[in-house]
Amino acid sequence: MRTSLRTSLRSSPRTSPTTRRPSSGARLAALFTGVSAVAALLVAAPAAQAAADTPLRDLAAARGKAIGTAVTGSKLTGTYGDIAGREFNWLTPGNAMKWASVEPSRGTFDWTEADRIVDFAEAHDQDVRGHTLVWHSQNPDWLANGTWTPAQLRQLMTDHIALEVGRYKGRLAAWDVVNEPFNEDGTFRQTLWYNGLGADYIAQALTAARAADPAAKLYINDYNVEGVNAKSTALYNLVKDLKARGVPIDGVGLQAHLILGQVPATFQQNIQRFADLGLDVAVTELDIRMQTPATDAKLAQQRTEYEAVFKACVAVSRCTGVTVWGFTDSDSWIPDTFPGEGAATPYDANYQPKPAYYGIVTALGGTVTEPPPPTGCSAAYSVQSQWNTGFTGQVTISCAAGSSLSSWRATWTFGAGQRISQAWNATCTQTQAAVSCANASWNGSVPSGGSVTFGFNASWSGSNPAPTVTLG
Ligand code: XIL
Repeated sequence: MRTSLRTSLRSSPRTSPTTRRPSSGARLAALFTGVSAVAALLVAAPAAQAAADTPLRDLAAARGKAIGTAVTGSKLTGTYGDIAGREFNWLTPGNAMKWASVEPSRGTFDWTEADRIVDFAEAHDQDVRGHTLVWHSQNPDWLANGTWTPAQLRQLMTDHIALEVGRYKGRLAAWDVVNEPFNEDGTFRQTLWYNGLGADYIAQALTAARAADPAAKLYINDYNVEGVNAKSTALYNLVKDLKARGVPIDGVGLQAHLILGQVPATFQQNIQRFADLGLDVAVTELDIRMQTPATDAKLAQQRTEYEAVFKACVAVSRCTGVTVWGFTDSDSWIPDTFPGEGAATPYDANYQPKPAYYGIVTALGGTVTEPPPPTGCSAAYSVQSQWNTGFTGQVTISCAAGSSLSSWRATWTFGAGQRISQAWNATCTQTQAAVSCANASWNGSVPSGGSVTFGFNASWSGSNPAPTVTLG
């Protein structure tokens, strides 16, 4: 039912600026100006005519904000590519620009995925946030396990920055130059860089990045710095000091890997205090994870929390925008990194927008049109539980008030080789991918306003996309 929600905005035809530069800020301003006149027209139009889907990027642009997503370069085709291109105006390579990805062995470079993402972004009039140059994680073994003098380490770091930033000079809008420099208590994290070069590695890295691309906005990025706390205060003191010393620093990135129910109450206040230093603030890696399986109640809460995060950014003019760390649950790092947790992004694993998507729409000033009350009878498919080779599925056949059935047959096509082994409360047959399930002798009747459910066990491998069920 969620999937039939429609979004609209009192604005925003898709415009296609023909030049990529000047900066997105200028482009957004131009779009915004163009939008005002159209907005007046649309407000007066009947609701039905204004109820076309409005991509998130148009809603965000009308507010002068970026909306980004982390992406995997190899997936930028098909539905994944369509959504990434349609809904977002910023991209961050999820892994493709990390040191281990671009220089797996010393002096051997692989820019394939990074180039692919930058090319895709330019073709879709998107900005790119480079991620990330100096970090303690996802470094190549040759670097992480090497023995380096401070002078060698500094040379490695500044050469890496000069090479990577230089490669994309003029094409990237921003760089996460230094990633995750702090411990939770606000002390500096003991890393390859800190241990070898001291805290000054941060200033050295920023200076090298500025030299390599003077137009790119330079950021320090960290997690658990969304609210006012010891770690964010350490970041605050660092960037204040860097600015005072004339070190090039344009903004802070608040990653925002959040847990359902734990969005910090001081999020907006914290954004504001960085903005008051004269810095840009970007929410760079938003996801809101929950214990799986997701339930309607958890997804509804997640919608409220996505809305709150976006509203906090909208409320502060120097908050440049929000990037989600993967837009679909099928491309999220959460299940691998936090076993038992997931469902953290705005789209489900089948690329259907979740309630969280509509929370973003609301925060960005769009309107969500609730679907008309259901009529007729329909079937809803869900996976109840899933293990490494099998899953239990369920289909619920519901009839709206005024409709009923005396017998039924539900059919669908399994798109990824799933095979039913056993069914209950229905008689199911499967011929290759085609599944057909008819009512049992005792449950053919579905009354007005009532429902009937049947279930099955099936095998799967690789992926387990949900099919669309047709009722006959
Ligand atoms: C994550 C990626 O999403 C995963 O695919 C990878 O295995 C590990 O790194 N903070 C960051 C990101 O700055 O680079 C991390 O990305 C998530 C946490």
